[in-house]
Amino acid sequence: MVVMKDFSLTYGGVKLYFGPKSIKHLLEHVKGYEYAIIVTSRSSAKVSGALNDVVKILNKANVEYEVFDKVTPNPWASQADELAKAIWESGADLVIAIGGGSVIDTAKVSSVMAASGGKAVDYLYKRRKPKYMVPLIAVNITHGTGTEVDRYAVLTVDGTYEKRGIPIRYPNVSFDNPKYLLTLPKNQTLYTSLDAFYHVYEAVTAKTLGSPFVDTVSLETVGLIKTWLPKALNNISNIRARYWLHYASMLAGIAIDASSTHIVHAIEHALSGINPKLPHGCGLGIIGARSAYYIHKAKPKESALLLRKLNPRIKPYTEYAKEAEETIREFQKDLGFEEKLSNYGFSEKDAEEIVRLLFNELKYLWDESPLNLTAYIVKDIIKEGL
Ligand SMILES: [Fe+2]
Repeated sequence: MVVMKDFSLTYGGVKLYFGPKSIKHLLEHVKGYEYAIIVTSRSSAKVSGALNDVVKILNKANVEYEVFDKVTPNPWASQADELAKAIWESGADLVIAIGGGSVIDTAKVSSVMAASGGKAVDYLYKRRKPKYMVPLIAVNITHGTGTEVDRYAVLTVDGTYEKRGIPIRYPNVSFDNPKYLLTLPKNQTLYTSLDAFYHVYEAVTAKTLGSPFVDTVSLETVGLIKTWLPKALNNISNIRARYWLHYASMLAGIAIDASSTHIVHAIEHALSGINPKLPHGCGLGIIGARSAYYIHKAKPKESALLLRKLNPRIKPYTEYAKEAEETIREFQKDLGFEEKLSNYGFSEKDAEEIVRLLFNELKYLWDESPLNLTAYIVKDIIKEGL
């Protein structure tokens, strides 16, 4: 029997509470605050039961609150501006984000803006530094982004296709409570876990930032995803599967915080900037296998270290690049992943715009690329994903 133990840890600037009873610790962290803004998307905070639990605890602690439920998937910078205004105007002394990456990332940026001033774009383009911030508590209800334990936020600049990821702040306190994952639909279950998988595959194969620490958490992540993702897809209410996938995505969040993502995330940001309806993890899955061909060629030792968990035949040599590609393709196919870019309206003619974005506005996203990314390679990866 696998025990689902509750525990806490401190990483970066975050005190994280993990486990099926972890939310009870919220009480000690909201006491003494006067007014909280709870940030959510349209419905998942309610459906998961997390909003109800948080509200009960706020009532118990005599903290007044209001709910800001306007965050959408792939959020715009203007949504962060609107939330910052709501925090400022209400005089809230606490922000509680209940959601996945979109909600927590928007709350990260807005909690800084409400105390340090400026617009979201000032931070996205690094024209302004976060000096002060309203305290932020994150209740993470997906198992992909890792944003509950990292300092990054991703927003799309309005009126452009530019989806920018920046280091901005850690939440002060985070909760990973697997009981809130039991309503996460099957496709989201798959996409978010693929996100965690690519976080560690890129973190381990980054040009300079990999380390034995990153290798350790990443190896554990891949092993857990391989074991527990099929079980969660088979029965989305399997709480043990949710516990371990949540744990895996948290480890993957630490891996990218300590290292970095690179070409798979960079290309995906270009794609979901152009079409915000493309879920992040789905976009990564579509382009990931072909990207691994090039990544394995550039970093065969590091790539093989992780991919051996999926396919023991993989060797740390460049000649195994095709096998690396096929390993990921098969892994995803066995999980039922058969998405294509054409399902999201992309065609070969979009490749030019993706290349343009990657070599201009989004160039900073692949600073840690282990390979010399060229327009030819980007177009090849896109073509394979159509
Ligand atoms: Fe990601």
